[in-house]
Amino acid sequence: MQRNWLILPLIFPLLALSSFFFFFFFIFLNVHLKFPFISSPSNNLTIIHQTNQSHFSLLIGILTRPDNYDRRHFLRLVYGIQSSSSATIHVKFIFCNLNKPQHRIFIGLEILRFNDIIILNCTENMNGGKTYTYFSSLPTILAAKYDYVMKADDDVFIRLEPLALSLRMLPRFDLYYGFVIPCSSQNPFVEYMSGMGFLVSWDIVEWISRSEIPKTRLFGPEDKMVGEWLKIGRKAKNRYTEKPGMYDYPGTNGKCSHELIKETVAVHRLKRWDQWLHVLDFFNVTRELKAF
Ligand SMILES: *[C@@H]1O[C@H](CO)[C@@H](O)[C@H](O)[C@H]1NC(C)=O
Ligand SMILES: *[C@@H]1O[C@H](CO)[C@@H](O)[C@H](O)[C@H]1NC(C)=O
Ligand SMILES: *[C@@H]1O[C@H](CO)[C@@H](O)[C@H](O)[C@H]1NC(C)=O
Ligand SMILES: *[C@@H]1O[C@H](CO)[C@@H](O)[C@H](O)[C@H]1NC(C)=O
Repeated sequence: MQRNWLILPLIFPLLALSSFFFFFFFIFLNVHLKFPFISSPSNNLTIIHQTNQSHFSLLIGILTRPDNYDRRHFLRLVYGIQSSSSATIHVKFIFCNLNKPQHRIFIGLEILRFNDIIILNCTENMNGGKTYTYFSSLPTILAAKYDYVMKADDDVFIRLEPLALSLRMLPRFDLYYGFVIPCSSQNPFVEYMSGMGFLVSWDIVEWISRSEIPKTRLFGPEDKMVGEWLKIGRKAKNRYTEKPGMYDYPGTNGKCSHELIKETVAVHRLKRWDQWLHVLDFFNVTRELKAF
């Protein structure tokens, strides 16, 4: 008891000092952080107080099927050689329940060796709610939360460092990020982010897992459905469309495609080896090997 009274006179100067500090901190950040948002008005971001949280965590869940062994091993190479200095990024493969006897051994080997597989309680499906099961299961499956969670296809090449850099100054809250559809749209509110690879902040993951809105809208194109949930739920006030940094491989999808560019975050629709070859070569992924 005595001690508390002794400390009390110290608290007031401390409070005064910290409000002084916060005041300057606030002004400093505002001055510095308005710039990137003003420079991209088309992204319609309405964030005012943004702190420079330089380091963040991101889970990239690649929705794929258990039988796609070869693709998975290839993607492990593609992501295994990448890293980011500004983010902790974990790449995992997402399945529904295993449904063949051999999976127990073959997938078991992968889990023992790589520990990068998440098996959801669902039956493999294209437009039957796997994306919902993915997001809604994460709060109970994961031991720790991530700042952001991404859903990606297995025919997309994501460049982790450019992705992390493009997220660095964005909000960590109520965020919906990706490549907005329709392809000609530059407004992230019109309409929704392509399933090639879109990302939401953790609060939205939690909202998806507890809201009644997604539960009644599970069937249909998965990326479009996510856009509808967020619209009906009035979520994702912060949106960002990464154009022209995300796109479909040249010539594969009309206005969604364009030539490869240096500022790429993700290229989608890589179905053939010659397309992967072109892309990996363009981005110099093996440049460290001088002899090549
Ligand atoms: C952003 O877009 C939404 C929906 O189109 C609109 O309601 C809002 O006023 C826009 N905000 C700004 C700052 O342009
Ligand atoms: C934000 O953090 C990065 C890396 O930690 C640093 O280079 C940059 O100068 C910081 N920006 C501001 C406005 O503090
Ligand atoms: C998996 O889903 C089924 C059907 O929805 C349910 O009956 C079962 O209890 C679930 N299993 C687990 C382990 O959650
Ligand atoms: C790949 O390397 C070449 C040769 O060094 C360089 O000219 C080119 O700009 C690099 N490409 C990218 C996308 O950085």
